[in-house]
Amino acid sequence: MAEFEPKIVAFCCSWCSYAGADLAGVSRLQYPANIEIIRVMCSGRIDPTFVLEAFTNGADGVLVAGCHIPSDCHYLSGNLRAQRRIAMTINLLKQFGIEPERLRLEWVSASEGDKFASVVKEMTEKIKELGPSPLRDGGEV
Ligand code: FES
Repeated sequence: MAEFEPKIVAFCCSWCSYAGADLAGVSRLQYPANIEIIRVMCSGRIDPTFVLEAFTNGADGVLVAGCHIPSDCHYLSGNLRAQRRIAMTINLLKQFGIEPERLRLEWVSASEGDKFASVVKEMTEKIKELGPSPLRDGGEV
């Protein structure tokens, strides 16, 4: 039987984390191809519906990546908003029987391509341990 390959959706803020992911690619750092990156203007833009929609559309894990706290966000406090929202979203996911480890928030700057690559590796391994999302293939929210 083929090894389970998780699908991970990564919401990356345009100013830091997307640039960090880009740097990882340009630097030819190796990381699993399980990740699909969605560029957003700020991590503070991610609300619980984005995360739930990713899970209901087949994601096994969701990564939200933004500028370092407290003061690197280009919109001043979007990363702090993201921190509060992700904590709230983790509680929401628990209500649906989704393990909290499937949602991860990380701060990745534009110069941290190596950090982006290692976060993707760690998260992919973790989701492989957990197995497919309970919402995959017909699970309901
Ligand atoms: Fe990066 Fe707000 S612009 S977290």
